[in-house]
Amino acid sequence: LKVLSIASEAVPLVKTGGLADVAGALPAAVAPHGVAMTTMIPGYPQVLKAIGKAKAVHAWPSLLGDPARLLAAKIGDQPLLVLDCPGLFARDGGPYVDGFGKDWGDNWQRFAAFARAAADVASGAVKGLQFDLAHAHDWQAGMVPAYLRFGPAVRTVPSVMTIHNMAFQGHYGADVFPQLGLPPEAWSMHGVEYHGGVGFLKAGLEAATAITTVSPTYAREIREREFGMGLEGLIRSRGDRVHGIVNGIDPADWNPESDPALPARYSWRSLGKRAANRKALAAEFGLDAGDGPLFVVITRLTWQKGMDVLLEVIDHMVGLGGRLALLGSGDPALEAGFHAAAARHPGKVGVRIGYDEALSHRMQAGGDAILVPSRFEPCGLTQLYGLAYGCVPVVSRTGGLADTVVDANLAAIAAGAATGVQCNAVNYAALADAISRTVALFHQPDTWKAIQRAGMKTDFSWGRSGKAYADLYRSLEETA
Ligand code: ADP
Ligand code: GLC
Repeated sequence: LKVLSIASEAVPLVKTGGLADVAGALPAAVAPHGVAMTTMIPGYPQVLKAIGKAKAVHAWPSLLGDPARLLAAKIGDQPLLVLDCPGLFARDGGPYVDGFGKDWGDNWQRFAAFARAAADVASGAVKGLQFDLAHAHDWQAGMVPAYLRFGPAVRTVPSVMTIHNMAFQGHYGADVFPQLGLPPEAWSMHGVEYHGGVGFLKAGLEAATAITTVSPTYAREIREREFGMGLEGLIRSRGDRVHGIVNGIDPADWNPESDPALPARYSWRSLGKRAANRKALAAEFGLDAGDGPLFVVITRLTWQKGMDVLLEVIDHMVGLGGRLALLGSGDPALEAGFHAAAARHPGKVGVRIGYDEALSHRMQAGGDAILVPSRFEPCGLTQLYGLAYGCVPVVSRTGGLADTVVDANLAAIAAGAATGVQCNAVNYAALADAISRTVALFHQPDTWKAIQRAGMKTDFSWGRSGKAYADLYRSLEETA
C-alpha cells in the first residue's frame, strides 16, 4: 500500500511543534505493516538547503498562479517530495509567520497551492508516482481531501485527515474562494465554506474518507463545544469515521541510553546516573543545589499550555522547596512574566526564552518532573519524553495527557502502576495541589523511584499506533 503523507513540517528538516515529530516518525512506524509512505513538505529555505541538489520530477507552470517544481529527495532513509515554489516559500522567517511572529498574509495561497500540488501527486498526475491513499495533517494540508474530491484528478484516492490541533483551522475570507481553482459546487456547507468564509481544516474534515486525531480522549473531547472550537457539530456528524490514535515516540531520537545530547546516559536500571545530568542542568540554569524537586517546562508559551496558571503558582512551588527550569517561547506577555519570576526567585527559577532541541533533551534527562498543565492537549509529546527519561510528568487530565499518564493515587502506587501526577483542572488551586502532591512524593524516595521506573518501562514506541494507521489505510482502500 502506497501512502502520500502531506505535512507542513517534519523532523529533522523543519519543526515548530509536535506535528513535525509525528510526520517525521510516521513512515518508519507504518513500514513494518506493509505501508510504503512518502512524505511531502513545502520547500522552505532550510528544507531546500538540507536536501541539497535534488532531482525535479515534475513542474507546474502555474500552481494557483506561481511556477513550481516537485523535487524528489530523502528524509532519513524514507522517500521525500518537496514542493519548490519560490514565490510562496523562499523567504526568511518561520514556516507560518514572518520575522515579527505575524502570520504571512498569503498563508491561504501558500497552503492551498501546497495542497493542490499534493492532490495532483496523490491522484497520479505525476508520471512515475503512484499512490493508493493521501494522509493530510492539520489545516495546512486540509485542502488536500477537498481538491481530491472536487478538483480535476487523473484518479481519485481515499484520504485521511488528521487533526493535531483543533485550535488552528486556517479560516479565510470568502474572497479567497474564487482563487482556489475549485468548481462552484465546492462553495457549500458540505464543501469548503465555513461561516461565510473558507475553512481549510473544515474542508478537509468534510471531504476526507476518514478522520483521525492523536488520542482517544481528544477524539471524544472534540465532539463537545469546549474542545471542538466550532467544528464539534461536524465531528459529531461524522462520528463513525473519527478515530483516536495516540502518538508514539521515536526511540532513535528519544532514548536516555543512547542520547548523544546527555552528559550521562542511563536506563531504568541505572537511575543513579541521572544525578550528573541533574547537577549539570541546575548549573546551566543558574539554580542552587536544593533538597526539593527540580521541575522543568519545555513548551510553546501559550494559553493552550496553561502557562499563565503556572506563573501564578510559581511562588507556591518555590515555597515548597521546588525549583524551576523553563525553556519556551511564544506569547510576549508570558515571556516577560517568566523573566520576572526568575528575577524574583534568583537561584530558584531559571528561564531560557528560545527554541533549543539539545537543551530540551538535557532537561528531560536532568529534571525530576516535567510540568504540562495544558487546557487542552490533543496528544502531547513532552510528557511521553518525560516518561521515557524518568522525568515524572505532572499533567492536567485532558486529551492525550489523560491517556498516557497514570496518576499516583494510593491504589495506583500500591499496584506499581503510577507513572505521574494528574491535576483535574487548570486553575491555581488544582495546579498548586498537584505540585504539593509531587513534592510530597519526591520526598518518599522509594515511591518516587518506582514511579520513574514504571514510566521508563512503559512502551510508548510507535508499534501499536503504526499498526492502527496501517489497518485504517487498508480498511479505506477496500471500501474505496
Ligand atoms: P505542541 O505540538 O502542541 O507544541 P507537543 O508536546 O506535541 O506540543 O510537541 C512539542 C514538541 O516541541 C516537543 O518535541 C517538544 O520537545 C518541542 N519543543 C517545544 N518547545 C520547545 C523549545 N522551546 N525548545 C525545544 N523544543 C521545544
Ligand atoms: C499538536 C498538539 C499536540 C500533539 C501534536 C502532534 O501540536 O498540540 O498535543 O502532540 O500536535 O500530534
